[in-house]
Amino acid sequence: MKITRIGHACVLLEGTKNVLIDPFITGNPAAKLSLEQIPKLDYILTTHDHDDHFGPDGINLAKRDDATLISIFDITQRDDVQQSGIKNVGMNIGGTFNDDNIEVSLTPAVHSSKNGSPVGLIIKMDGRTIYHAGDTALFGDMRLIPELFGALDVALLPIGGHFTMDEKAAARAVEILQPQLTVPIHYNTWPPIEADTSQFKQFCQGFNVQIVDPGESFTA
Ligand code: NI
Ligand code: MN
Repeated sequence: MKITRIGHACVLLEGTKNVLIDPFITGNPAAKLSLEQIPKLDYILTTHDHDDHFGPDGINLAKRDDATLISIFDITQRDDVQQSGIKNVGMNIGGTFNDDNIEVSLTPAVHSSKNGSPVGLIIKMDGRTIYHAGDTALFGDMRLIPELFGALDVALLPIGGHFTMDEKAAARAVEILQPQLTVPIHYNTWPPIEADTSQFKQFCQGFNVQIVDPGESFTA
C-alpha cells in the first residue's frame, strides 16, 4: 500500500481501494498536492468535522468520484452532507464497516467536534493495519487498540500539542501502541502546533519513526 501525507492530518492510502483520510486540501497551508492530483477515490474517511479535517473538499471529492464518506453518524446527518446526495456510512465508536477489500473501524479520541464525537480510525486493507488517531489527547485505553485490532503496521499520530498530544505524550502513545512504524501528523501547519520532530524521535527511542513531509509517500 502506498501512503502519501498530503499535509496536516490529511493522508491518502492507495491500495486495492483509494482512501482519503481527513480531507483538507483547499486552504491547507501545508498541502503539497492539489485536488486535481488526488486519484479517483473509493472512500473518504473523517475523524471529526473541525474545518482542518473535513472541509468542503470532503463533499466535493465524494461527488467527483462517487466515493463513500465513512464517519461518525452525526456528520453524515449534516444538512450539507444530506443535501449533497453523496454515498455515506454513518457509524459510531465501536462500529466497523467492511466490504470485500477494506475494513474501517471507529475508535475513541479525546477531543471535541462540531457534530458527534471525534474518533480515531483503524483501516485494514491489503493485509495491513493502519491507525489514524485523529485529533486526540493521550488516553490509557489506547492499549486496547492493538489488543482488539492486532499489531499495527502504521500509526499516524498527532504531535503538534495545543489541540492534541505533543511530542512527549505522542511518544508515550507509541510505547502503548507498539506500531511497526510511526509517522507523526498534525504539526507545523500553523504556529500554535509547531513541533520538534527530532525531539519526538528521541522520545521514541527503540521505535521506528519516519518523518514524512507533506507531499511525500512511503510504502507499508
Ligand atoms: Ni480538531
Ligand atoms: Mn485538528
